[in-house]
Amino acid sequence: MRTIDDLDVSGKRVFVRADLNVPLDGERIADDGRIRAALPTITKLRERGARVIVAAHLGRPKGAPDPKFSLRPVAARLGELLGTEVAFATDTAGESARATAGALTDGQVALLENVRFEPGETSKDDTERGELADRFAGLADLYVGDAFGAVHRKHASVYDLPDKLPHAVGGLVLTEVEVLKKLTGDPQRPYAVVLGGSKVSDKLGVIDNLLGTADRLLIGGGMVFTFLKAKGYEVGSSLLESDQLDTVRGYLERAEREGVEIVLPVDVVAAEKFAADAPHDDVDVDAIPADRMGLDIGPKSRLLFAEKLADTKTVFWNGPMGVFEMEPYAGGTRALAKALIDSDAFTVVGGGDSAAAVRVLGFDETAFGHISTGGGASLEYLEGKDLPGIDALAE
Ligand code: 3PG
Repeated sequence: MRTIDDLDVSGKRVFVRADLNVPLDGERIADDGRIRAALPTITKLRERGARVIVAAHLGRPKGAPDPKFSLRPVAARLGELLGTEVAFATDTAGESARATAGALTDGQVALLENVRFEPGETSKDDTERGELADRFAGLADLYVGDAFGAVHRKHASVYDLPDKLPHAVGGLVLTEVEVLKKLTGDPQRPYAVVLGGSKVSDKLGVIDNLLGTADRLLIGGGMVFTFLKAKGYEVGSSLLESDQLDTVRGYLERAEREGVEIVLPVDVVAAEKFAADAPHDDVDVDAIPADRMGLDIGPKSRLLFAEKLADTKTVFWNGPMGVFEMEPYAGGTRALAKALIDSDAFTVVGGGDSAAAVRVLGFDETAFGHISTGGGASLEYLEGKDLPGIDALAE
């Protein structure tokens, strides 16, 4: 794979696909980690005299412009962080994009509007994606793939475009892959994986794969209730994916057979409803009231999880332990982050939500081995799947 050092970028228009999919609170950027992670590649290109055209997605708009998902606030933040003005194209591959890209001088940067405002970006139809990729290619001379968080998507700006321009892999993708390789290759043991987040159905592939590689699997977040139910506990009004119960039972049996320890919470914070001000209590998992929902792992579980991580040498963590955005249910995620910092293990935080949680809860990012920008992408890498956005960058 060519890197940007192999490209002659001076005076050239370079299309950089970045992942700037940041959590927004109205127009406020709740966590700018992904914008920061995109800076080194953009800066390097600017310093070498490139005219940098950045493209990215935000959220999941339905293939048409939607002001809620505009990248305009991201352009402003990117400009602040770069210390230079970032021109903003009000469309993705239309008149504004062409004019904005055409007006760039050496070292200047522009951001295009959300690539998912174009139906071709996410289309399943190769021709439709190809047509959009042709329009993107018309804006630039060279392509750099640096959107690690989106490399698992077979989308026009990620997968089809590199084929149409001389291309290289960006530094962020290289770093991410190097770290994840340590987990799939020969991780130092004990190797524990902590999984959270709301849905077990999003994590099936990775659990399947991890049962063959990890020594210990700690499970929290909304997905844990499907595990607890599969073990025979009543989970009240907690999130439950009944259609996954058999699959989860299968995982529990397989883990036992293969000597993988599955660690589940022993208590949870159970609330009357999904709200920060709802009455809530710590209850053991065998006593979740029928009218309550679990929104975080409880204090005994936090200690248990910390114990199970204390002797590990490698840990991968994906997904918050509870609804950390609401303070009463942030304790589990906070305790887990602290346990990772306190352990001597090589710790990798994977995922939009868990990475954002680390920063939003005020932890020092440098206390972790690596904080990945990729949620789904890092999981699919661990699953051993082919990643279209990386395959497309091969020469
Ligand atoms: C992410 O948030 O994981 C990436 O930006 C990919 O977003 P997507 O899941 O909407 O494709």
